[in-house]
Amino acid sequence: MIDKNIFADPYLPHEVFVARRVQEAQDIVSLYLVFANPAANLDYSFQPGQFNMLYCGGGEAPISIVSGHGTAQGYLHTVRTVGEVTRALGALKEGDSLGLRGPFGQGWPINKIQGKDILVITGGIAIAPVVAAIDELMRNRDCYGRLSILQGVTHDAGHIFSRQYQDWSSAPNTEVGITSMEAGAGWRHHKGLITTLVEDLPIADIANTVALMCGPQAMMQATTAILTGKGLGDNSIYISMERNMHCGLGHCGHCQLGEKFVCKDGPVFSYAELKQALTLEAFA
Ligand SMILES: Cc1cc2nc3c(=O)[nH]c(=O)nc-3n(C[C@H](O)[C@H](O)[C@H](O)COP(=O)(O)OP(=O)(O)OC[C@H]3O[C@@H](n4cnc5c(N)ncnc54)[C@H](O)[C@@H]3O)c2cc1C
Ligand code: FES
Repeated sequence: MIDKNIFADPYLPHEVFVARRVQEAQDIVSLYLVFANPAANLDYSFQPGQFNMLYCGGGEAPISIVSGHGTAQGYLHTVRTVGEVTRALGALKEGDSLGLRGPFGQGWPINKIQGKDILVITGGIAIAPVVAAIDELMRNRDCYGRLSILQGVTHDAGHIFSRQYQDWSSAPNTEVGITSMEAGAGWRHHKGLITTLVEDLPIADIANTVALMCGPQAMMQATTAILTGKGLGDNSIYISMERNMHCGLGHCGHCQLGEKFVCKDGPVFSYAELKQALTLEAFA
């Protein structure tokens, strides 16, 4: 029988183990995590855009939930190794265990954007928080308008999830644009900044278009300027923000951005909600 209180204490880490590990790039690792308690696998659910706090190597880091397939395959988290916790996560082997809290936060407004043309614009590892949203749009493809998925990376070696991009590009009414600032001879996508793809993208019905964005702040700042310049309203741009986090619950104040807590009120916000705070700190 399932204990309905398994996830009642959001401070309590749950033991999960690495069911499968994929080295996506030199510094990017995918971990398929399965709960040690089989009842937790059945009881766990999340919304696209939410994140977990993963405890490993003596610390915790917020990591997005890329996708989830329950007991069979586990919940996918894709990690770029940048510091202490992410390096410890990247060093895990299949069968190793770690702690997981959450899911936390407010994800993408999947229901609110039904019927809209959708631009998904991401940079580097920031595709991770958007994959679950794209999967949801694909599952209900008829409920949404044209879907344009644009992804930018610094080096071609950092381009991950190529099979997913291939699948998405063959879906109806969907286009995919991938660009890398530096690329070798075998690179068959665009070369240059993602902002050039955004500049060149024809938008048929700006009043019925929304953008879902995640990436380095300089990229999001430049992209927001292009989109608003094309006439997209502040309420039609959704941004998933990253900040240092501690509690994940709106209690410690680590992730505060203006009047908002990124962990609890976000990580996904409309640009309208964040505009003032972001302008004050120039997206820094
Ligand atoms: C809601 C949310 C979802 C996230 N999802 C993912 C994900 O799916 N995959 C993933 O790889 N990362 C994700 N991140 C970023 C990840 O949490 C950080 O990279 C991680 O906390 C760094 O911890 P660390 O101990 O490894 O590095 P630290 O030792 O804390 O820092 C090492 C270096 O990385 C920089 N850094 C730390 N945190 C961030 C950050 N958030 N963004 C940019 N630079 C940072 C520091 O300034 C420092 O230079 C997410 C962050 C948030 C807030
Ligand atoms: S991480 Fe503690 S308030 Fe957001």
